Amino acid sequence: MSEIIVAPSLLSLDYTDSKTQIKRLEVAGAKWLHYDVMDGVFVDNISFGPMILKQMSKLTDLFLDVHLMIVKPEKYVDAFIDAGADQITFHVESFDSAEYGVQVIRETIKKGVKVGITSRPHTPIEEVLPYLKYVDLVLVMSVEPGFGGQSFMPISLERIQQYVELRALNQYDYLISVDGGINEETGKKVKKAGVDALVAGSYVFSEDIEKAIQSLL
Ligand code: DX5
Ligand code: ZN
Repeated sequence: MSEIIVAPSLLSLDYTDSKTQIKRLEVAGAKWLHYDVMDGVFVDNISFGPMILKQMSKLTDLFLDVHLMIVKPEKYVDAFIDAGADQITFHVESFDSAEYGVQVIRETIKKGVKVGITSRPHTPIEEVLPYLKYVDLVLVMSVEPGFGGQSFMPISLERIQQYVELRALNQYDYLISVDGGINEETGKKVKKAGVDALVAGSYVFSEDIEKAIQSLL
């Protein structure tokens, strides 16, 4: 098994000190930067869009992992790719049907970026199944999307194990990432359950960036 990917969530970045903080993430061993896009409609919070991503992409060569928590995400795919996105993750709840969602995902893959799928913690896994054979990433939400700093929901451990089993059973080749409430303790649990990548926001930025990333690695 290759080394775990740590993906700090830029939702918790100190934007007055972006340059220094991103450099510190790189040196500490983060491989991806997780970028949470929120529109105030799909979730009750507004974060940032392609313009800020473009500026971030000028500061780093790290892999830019974009998580779209917005309605009509297909409208913004090109803008995020132009801004430097390496991977775009969609919520199943953003699409009226899986048929349409799969179509959006297949079109996005053709544009040369990696594509992920995710769902809210309580969305039935059946709604995610139609996407699994197409995607590069399955993102398991371990909090309700919308805000950083929430507590990890243990129910997500089961979901991770289900995706691990489905991958083996069907020879899918997605990575599994987990997002929400990740710290040293919950990080250990999800690694044991089989994740490939850890998204962590408040834990990484609240104290010592280097120490936090080391503890997740
Ligand atoms: C929540 C976002 C997360 C968030 C995680 O909607 O998807 O990426 O930044 O934050 P923490 O690690 O603080 O739970
Ligand atoms: Zn996220």
